[in-house]
Amino acid sequence: MGEIVRLQKYIAMCGKASRRKAEELIADGRVKVNGEKVSEQGVKVEIGADRVSVDGEEISLVSKKYYIMLNKPVGYVSTVSDQFDRPTVVDLLSEEIKTRIFPVGRLDYETEGLLLLTNDGDFTYRVTHPKFELGKTYIATVGAGLTVAGINALKRGVKIDDYKTSPAEVEILDSNQGGTYVKITIHEGRNRQVRKMFEAVGVKVKELKRVSIGKVELGNLPLGRWRYLTEHEIHYLLNS
Ligand code: URA
Repeated sequence: MGEIVRLQKYIAMCGKASRRKAEELIADGRVKVNGEKVSEQGVKVEIGADRVSVDGEEISLVSKKYYIMLNKPVGYVSTVSDQFDRPTVVDLLSEEIKTRIFPVGRLDYETEGLLLLTNDGDFTYRVTHPKFELGKTYIATVGAGLTVAGINALKRGVKIDDYKTSPAEVEILDSNQGGTYVKITIHEGRNRQVRKMFEAVGVKVKELKRVSIGKVELGNLPLGRWRYLTEHEIHYLLNS
């Protein structure tokens, strides 16, 4: 008998989507097990015995896994395809890895920096789920008006969209006519979180760049270029 796993985990193992995205696929009625539509969560499948399809296409376990770091430029969306036909981060990858790979979380259209991509749904789950508390560090260039009280509020947590952010690490790096450069580490990944956090303390983010996820750093990877993660980085991200 094959291993029994939850359906959303199996979909992730097949590299079709992250676990969370897989739950949405199930809820949307796009998944069938042995030809029967399954739209409730919690169903289990036996690997190697049950046939699972998404949008009518049978899925199978991924043999080769890819783990990639990209230095995303401004002006690209962090999805595989865009409804407005804007350039996507996948356009920046080479042909042989373009297929079946998806971004780990997302960066806004106007944000640049470190973006991970993979076909390993469990990896996505480990890196994006707040319970694993991986810090994501950004350099924000902000406009005038950041006060000590504002910095302390960011450190303690601020209210955005009826939600209080968890404590952040905040450090002022420099300040000149171009703006104030702030290094900020957050442990969640809400939609436009860093921009909204600064908005909550009355300052506008002019530029935003992600420079690290946990201990994995963008380093000097040029803008628009990608590289494979090292074994060490993959192991660290899967186990931290
Ligand atoms: N916070 C933001 O505001 N934007 C991003 O792209 C990532 C984090």
